Amino acid sequence: MKIGLEVFVFLSAFIVTTCSEKAKPNSNPTELTILNQLSEYELFDKNESGNLVPKDFGTSYTLNTALFSDYTHKDRVIFLPKDSQIQFESDKVFSMPVGTIISKTFSMPADLSTPAENLHKLETRLLIHQPKGWFAVSYVWNEDGSDAEIAYAGKNVPIQIKDQDGKNLEFTYAVPSRNQCSSCHQSYEGRSQSIVPIGPKAKHLNKEISLEDGNKVHQLSHWKEKGILAGLPFFGAPKLVDAFDSTYSVDERARAYLDINCSHCHQGEGAAGINSKLILTAEESKLSELGLCKTPGSAGKGGGGLRYDIVPGHADESILYYRMATQDSGAMMPQIGRALIHREGVELIREWINSMPEKTCP
Ligand code: HEC
Ligand code: HEC
Repeated sequence: MKIGLEVFVFLSAFIVTTCSEKAKPNSNPTELTILNQLSEYELFDKNESGNLVPKDFGTSYTLNTALFSDYTHKDRVIFLPKDSQIQFESDKVFSMPVGTIISKTFSMPADLSTPAENLHKLETRLLIHQPKGWFAVSYVWNEDGSDAEIAYAGKNVPIQIKDQDGKNLEFTYAVPSRNQCSSCHQSYEGRSQSIVPIGPKAKHLNKEISLEDGNKVHQLSHWKEKGILAGLPFFGAPKLVDAFDSTYSVDERARAYLDINCSHCHQGEGAAGINSKLILTAEESKLSELGLCKTPGSAGKGGGGLRYDIVPGHADESILYYRMATQDSGAMMPQIGRALIHREGVELIREWINSMPEKTCP
């Protein structure tokens, strides 16, 4: 008993010190100049094959499940100012020091059956942490992939590739404008509207990764060991599953998918949350807010003539499924950020709704 108590006291002291450990700030938090060419930021080197290699103040990272963006391959990097650190948060976006730049480079595979091969760089999106808040803008790559230029207004890029079945696929890929960045990267905390990162949360980053030498490590522990993350608790960090790892239940996978693809708008304080009260965060536990037997807040075209967001057991009668499976610009969800239908995502949501105990909605 006595020993148990001592261990407990010791452990709690240990956990408390780690959790309350404060991240080192940027010692020189000045405004960064927004540059015209991506190369001017000096974030990357290029290897022999022309691929971008982040400089050593950059840390590449991956998420348990990514946002679907027309089957593009994405490389994400967090660049931290010298000697500064990221602050762990268990239930919101990690805080990052002023001067942090997060980059996400989108590349299109020539053939969707080999999604990581023959990649053609399209755009590199930057989130730049200025003293006043986060600034978002994208850089569009030139044809030969030598540099990317700032695109305040976004850009339409015609794409010709092969789809999963070897058929020709032609569509227009839309690089978002700055206004569109803020419709997804919006914070609703407090009164003023500001831009925030979306992915760097414990539940998305809590996963195993492979290092260059082939060793497998835990991503957040690796950050802590590198000295760039403060406050990581010893256990209990939240985690969502990989939506496309079939060893997990369909329910866990579907909730993880909706969280990263929809909840930045469909959350308590999000734009869509306010209008429609459809809450698609993985933590949402009220079935009606998740859409079960819920009639939509805004009627019309978006509903495809259907009555409820989710009719348990019946994907074909569910607006949520319908809006993911359509390319109709007046109805599709999300309404920006994709031109194509995410076949695998739509299939997962279909399986999820069909696996719910059947129910007749009132
Ligand atoms: C359709 C919604 C949507 C739009 C539009 C959008 N983003 Fe994002 N963005 C996301 C989501 C969701 C993530 C996290 C998931 C991921 O990285 O796959 C993300 C991640 C990022 C990241 C990596 C850091 C982070 O926040 O997770 C950067 C950088 C970024 N976006 C920049 C931009 C910029 C710049 C624009 C506008 C040119 C933009 N985004 C437009 C939804 C969007
Ligand atoms: C960029 C913000 C944004 C994203 C991302 C987004 N939505 Fe929406 N969604 C909205 C807005 C705004 C509305 C309300 C207007 C409307 O119905 O078109 C809405 C409405 C809906 C509705 C009708 C809900 C109701 O009860 O009124 C459904 C269903 C829906 N969205 C599903 C989804 C799904 C599923 C995803 C992810 C795959 C998603 N949305 C992603 C903005 C978004």
